[in-house]
Amino acid sequence: MDVTGKNIIVTGGGNGIGRALAERFAQEGAGHVTVADLDVENAADVADSVGGTAAGVDVGSREAIVDLVQSVERAQGPIDLFASNAGILTPGSIEASVDSWQKIWDVNVMAHVHAAHAVLPGMLERGQGAFLNTCSAAGLLTQIGSAPYSVTKHASVAFAEWLSITYGDRGIQVFALCPQAVNTNMTAGTESGGVAGVDGMLEPGDIAEAVIQGLAAESFLILPHPEVATYFQRKAGDYDRWIKGMRKLNAQFLPEMEKLIGS
Ligand SMILES: NC(=O)c1ccc[n+]([C@@H]2O[C@H](COP(=O)([O-])OP(=O)(O)OC[C@H]3O[C@@H](n4cnc5c(N)ncnc54)[C@H](O)[C@@H]3O)[C@@H](O)[C@H]2O)c1
Repeated sequence: MDVTGKNIIVTGGGNGIGRALAERFAQEGAGHVTVADLDVENAADVADSVGGTAAGVDVGSREAIVDLVQSVERAQGPIDLFASNAGILTPGSIEASVDSWQKIWDVNVMAHVHAAHAVLPGMLERGQGAFLNTCSAAGLLTQIGSAPYSVTKHASVAFAEWLSITYGDRGIQVFALCPQAVNTNMTAGTESGGVAGVDGMLEPGDIAEAVIQGLAAESFLILPHPEVATYFQRKAGDYDRWIKGMRKLNAQFLPEMEKLIGS
């Protein structure tokens, strides 16, 4: 898909990867970009810089996503691409509270479900539309130091997969963006190297470049770190061996990850 002339919503667009996506979509000639974020101030800055519109939205709320979609469609017409990108990383181990599990589930998983709930009926009527869901390599492999992040990112990949299988023949395109470490506020506490440096820390602009290429290639999985495809194949090829290898990485990097995200 080509974003030229498209009406696009980017959630979590005030910072990091979302900001880079909003900026790159605008550079590529998007028709309109709506920058939705809890961080209204930064969303407004990004919207100003891309000639778009800012919206203060909590993506964990179905009502807020439905309101967002209705107001964008009233002002700008049908949504062509919903980039469901906002996400959070929370601690950590079996000590994580039920509230913290619920919160990360709402933001990392239900936000994608709410987006589909809000825009899919119209897209199906028109016979076209696209979702770019920011998942993570943690959704294909795992996240050392955070069970809630691993579980919710796996669920986000599963939902994207299900959407694509169910609606792909009806004109709906679905993309699952699965980077490893990216230099954003989310990884700001990691020292150089560490688990974030296993295959190198990319910049948000690198992710936007991979997205433009992935959309053009119409490939479901967008892997800015190409090594992830190899790890995913190794995992499928010999799950026990892969888990043993991951235990070694866990022993090596858990202390740093606990410093970053808590335990
Ligand atoms: N940084 C990485 O290493 C990395 C790697 C793989 C995947 N990801 C994923 O990329 C996405 C973007 O993360 P980032 O690294 O740019 O982080 P970031 O913290 O820089 O940006 C996340 C944005 O989401 C917004 N947000 C958080 N909760 C929200 C909510 N409930 N409603 C609306 N907005 C909300 C934040 O205000 C922020 O602007 C996330 O889904 C993250 O899990 C990040």
